[in-house]
Amino acid sequence: MKKILLLLMIPVLAGTGVHAQKFGGLAMTPPMGWNSWNHFGCNVDERLIMEVADAMVESGMKDAGYLYVNIDDCWHGERDSLGFIHPDPQRFPSGMKALADYIHSMGLKLGIYSDAGWKTCAGRPGSRGYEYQDAMQYAGWGIDYLKYDWCNTEGLNAEGAYLTMRDALYAAGRPVVFSICEWGNSDPWEWAADIGHLWRTTGDIYNCFDCVKDHGDWNSWGVLQILDMRDNGVLRRSAGPGHWNDPDMMEVGNGMSVSEDRAHFSLWCMLAAPLIAGNDIRSMSKETLAILTNRRAIAVNQDPLGIQGYKHASVDSLDVWVKPLSDGRFAVCFLNRGLNATEMEFVWKDNPFNDRLTGRAADFEKKIYRFENVWEDTHRGDTGAPLRATIPGHDVLMLILAEQR
Ligand code: GLA
Repeated sequence: MKKILLLLMIPVLAGTGVHAQKFGGLAMTPPMGWNSWNHFGCNVDERLIMEVADAMVESGMKDAGYLYVNIDDCWHGERDSLGFIHPDPQRFPSGMKALADYIHSMGLKLGIYSDAGWKTCAGRPGSRGYEYQDAMQYAGWGIDYLKYDWCNTEGLNAEGAYLTMRDALYAAGRPVVFSICEWGNSDPWEWAADIGHLWRTTGDIYNCFDCVKDHGDWNSWGVLQILDMRDNGVLRRSAGPGHWNDPDMMEVGNGMSVSEDRAHFSLWCMLAAPLIAGNDIRSMSKETLAILTNRRAIAVNQDPLGIQGYKHASVDSLDVWVKPLSDGRFAVCFLNRGLNATEMEFVWKDNPFNDRLTGRAADFEKKIYRFENVWEDTHRGDTGAPLRATIPGHDVLMLILAEQR
């Protein structure tokens, strides 16, 4: 009898083993946090990460919703004789576990970076062949977020490589937000929703509103270039709670004008993009902080429906972006792509909103919506009359519309 039971149990146990999947219930709204790369590049150490965490709390960013403190490339030391990865002992002398404990004690979460190839983009050890071991190590340290890059992956298949790491993370047992970073090369929006919680849609961002930076064998891209690079109508089909398009980490506070930073942030909010700050938040200006913590803009980004906005119209240098929100509301963002100020008149009645993807619509002939201005506390109005405004160059006018009761 015992033998039979044992025999019966083996297939049952095998069937109830770790059923590989992505961690559910994470990133139900676009993840918010900070990442070291855009400002600090390879210049990372535990002191910086702790100071950034302190600043996240003291500046009010944590209260505004920023949660993840993410270390990008170059934290790595060597693998030991068993293959386990360790942080650079000079830069992280206390070790990753101690750093994670510090971050967690502040109510924040710690993110780390690796690469699906043999080496990271900056030449540090990649996870190729060590996926399960790295995932175990990260879980032991208490890591909450993994950005997984795509350098040095010659001959690998992206979907397969990301699936392997997803399964490794799941097997390691500690819930981790999994951030796919293969730059949109193999259309991750078509396959990544069950693999990661966000996926990069383009190459790297550059701290310029309307430029391309030539690095020789690769380019990085300004805000408008990223906005235009992919077919947003295709991308937005794949976005939603737990799975987001990622147009890259933000450059707010990294040298663009206040108008440009405001427009960049507004667009990322309209796109339901992850809001990962990329500036030195220990020493940011009042204007930068005000942009990063604008509660109305963040509410647009974090709306529970998780609908990615779309371009409603575009005339000359002016784009009109619309994002359906919960409770029948809409966010509208008028973007002046040009350098010169532009005067506009928007006749609501001639511009019904009709989002074919979600069926959400607003007919301004039938209903009047009242609005508040995201960036100007005192500007309120309604859609009963045309909207007239002057929008400075590289800036936005952003409104939240709610039905008049
Ligand atoms: C790639 C990524 C960047 C950054 C660097 C680090 O370029 O796209 O976001 O992580 O690697 O080397």
